[in-house]
Amino acid sequence: MPSLTRIEQALEAALATATTPGCAPLLAAAVRHAVFPGGARIRPRLCLAVARACGDDQPALSDAAAVALELLHCASLVHDDLPCFDDATTRRGQASVHSAFGERLAVLAGDALIVLPFQVLARAGTAAPARLAAVLTTVAGSVGMPGGIVAGQAWECEPQVSLQQYHREKTGSLFEAATVAGAQAAGGDAEAWRGLGSWLGEAYQSADDLRDVLADAQHLGKPTGRDAALGRPSIARERGLPAAMRHFDMLVRQAVDAVPDCPGAPMLRALVRSEAERLVPAQMAAPLRAAA
Ligand code: IPE
Ligand code: IPE
Ligand code: MG
Ligand code: MG
Repeated sequence: MPSLTRIEQALEAALATATTPGCAPLLAAAVRHAVFPGGARIRPRLCLAVARACGDDQPALSDAAAVALELLHCASLVHDDLPCFDDATTRRGQASVHSAFGERLAVLAGDALIVLPFQVLARAGTAAPARLAAVLTTVAGSVGMPGGIVAGQAWECEPQVSLQQYHREKTGSLFEAATVAGAQAAGGDAEAWRGLGSWLGEAYQSADDLRDVLADAQHLGKPTGRDAALGRPSIARERGLPAAMRHFDMLVRQAVDAVPDCPGAPMLRALVRSEAERLVPAQMAAPLRAAA
């Protein structure tokens, strides 16, 4: 089955367990709104690609890891869009959750989307408890503190910030968890896969910072110009566009080089390159590369 179909079906199954008829209807609708329609689903795709490269002999656990990471990502977007964070009225081409349902339900929907992933994992892990423990540790670490999304977002409240630490924690951590947990779910060598997720995640946030300056909101499905307006740390603001582009290219090369040699390696290297091109298309990148 193609990965995207697997991911959408597993997300649908996870939400079905949470949005049963007895559940508060507006909360159920807000949670659905946060998850469907999806964006690029890059984190679960990466997780399943690594699981496949490692043999994928416990597909229910790989699916659960992939779903858990996407739900946590969706939760982070719901909270990130709130007025007290980035105050974004659109997301994925539609109203952000708080714009559609109000702030209280957005906080609660984000909370629910942090708890559900662990319920999904607990249900899927009974067949392989030792692997489940490793996956749970990876997934929880990537969203909490000291080095997960929560800690990363908290740097916005500090007077001094290391941009690399901010990028690695708020975005890189979930990508790193995608490769590591994908390997752990399939019984692979998790440490061999850490570098790919970590480099790709950092590249991803650098590209997002570039697009916040260069892309148009219609195309992105979310507001642009927010980093400058809110004074957020951004590689585009810290180094200027040509140097930021050079840095992105370097991070993508590191990600490609970090793919361990295995039968799935060409597919994974192609995935990294196609993501890089999707994020910063040639027509956006060319003038910056020429100016560097
Ligand atoms: C947006 O992530 C937030 C960042 C970490 C840059 P994505 O660009 O992966 O968002 P979706 O899931 O495709 O909408
Ligand atoms: C991603 O950073 C933060 C999260 C962990 C959600 P951004 O604030 O730059 O992401 P976008 O641009 O709103 O998608
Ligand atoms: Mg934001
Ligand atoms: Mg951004």
